[in-house]
Amino acid sequence: MNRAINFSAGPGVLPLEVLKKAQEEMIDYRGAGMSVMEMSHRSKEYEAIIGGAEQNLRKLMNIPQNYKVLFLQGGASLQFAMVPLNLFSAAKKADYISTGAWAKKAISEAKRYGTVKVIASSEDKNFNYIPKISQAMLSRDADYVHITTNNTIYGTCFSELPDTGKIPLVADMSSNILSQEYDVSKFGLIYAGAQKNMGPSGVTVVIVRDDLIGHALDITPTMLDYKIHAGEGSMYNTPPCYAIYIAGLVFEWLLEKGGIKAMEKENRLKAAILYDFLDQSKLFKGTVELQSRSLMNIPFVTGNEELDNKFISEASKKGLKTLKGHRSVGGMRASIYNAMPKEGVETLVTFMREFEKVNG
Ligand SMILES: Cc1ncc(COP(=O)(O)O)c(C=O)c1O
Repeated sequence: MNRAINFSAGPGVLPLEVLKKAQEEMIDYRGAGMSVMEMSHRSKEYEAIIGGAEQNLRKLMNIPQNYKVLFLQGGASLQFAMVPLNLFSAAKKADYISTGAWAKKAISEAKRYGTVKVIASSEDKNFNYIPKISQAMLSRDADYVHITTNNTIYGTCFSELPDTGKIPLVADMSSNILSQEYDVSKFGLIYAGAQKNMGPSGVTVVIVRDDLIGHALDITPTMLDYKIHAGEGSMYNTPPCYAIYIAGLVFEWLLEKGGIKAMEKENRLKAAILYDFLDQSKLFKGTVELQSRSLMNIPFVTGNEELDNKFISEASKKGLKTLKGHRSVGGMRASIYNAMPKEGVETLVTFMREFEKVNG
């Protein structure tokens, strides 16, 4: 077996233990005589899988009882529309914070259904920081305030959540869910595509406070109404069965690792290894302002495109894969999700040190 050290931004690396377990259970799931892909979603076996996944996610994130957990399809991108369709319940107004390409997509989608005010943006510096938010910036009659907790492309993360008072805070947490502790009760709604920290693509987790369900705009298609999915336990139609099963294995793995507190500690250690190296390097430099640095996605550049390409190509030959940065930032990006072991980051830094010696 030859596993790469995979720095992909998403779909990203999954824990080897999870993949092995899935392999073991692939053809005959725990004596059912069939794979999870082949069994009815109404079967007892599958009910235990989806129920167990929900319970373990609740345990991991300490999700209060007055929140529903939904396993949906359509990726985080569909939530860009579902959030306004379901939450534009009073003034049909929302405040958005523009911290990158995904936030901008969320903004343009919400504009189709109501009034959107961009109350802060970091576009002036190519999104390399998180703007400061104060209560005075918020619209009093907003139905919700939307943030992207972690910006996958630019490598920024809110170090402090905006205090939105009684206005529900909605978060796209696609690239840092389960990587650090969050108090779910501070949010009205959290959504995240699974393919970075939870499992394969195909399932999107939505965690939504009860009182925000049931007020969808009349034009909302049945399949896009949280009330329908909440009422049917995410089984209004056939759910993404296999993706939920793998996410469930990832949740079990996280619990075995000591939960989110332990994972956050490890993630801080891992990120510090790379940031500490970048801060003293004469060749490589990070692109993000200190206070806004992400623990999950770390972009860096040499300032010379040719050298960047040489680095990416030589790194790949050493088994350090998918380090090319997003085209809007250039250079490199190391995505170091929960399943990336500390040794993977250490190997990267060792290689960067060697590369600097030869090319610096
Ligand atoms: C922060 C963020 N939001 C949204 C998306 C879009 O997710 P999906 O491909 O699941 O629609 C991504 C994908 O990388 C992302 O990183």
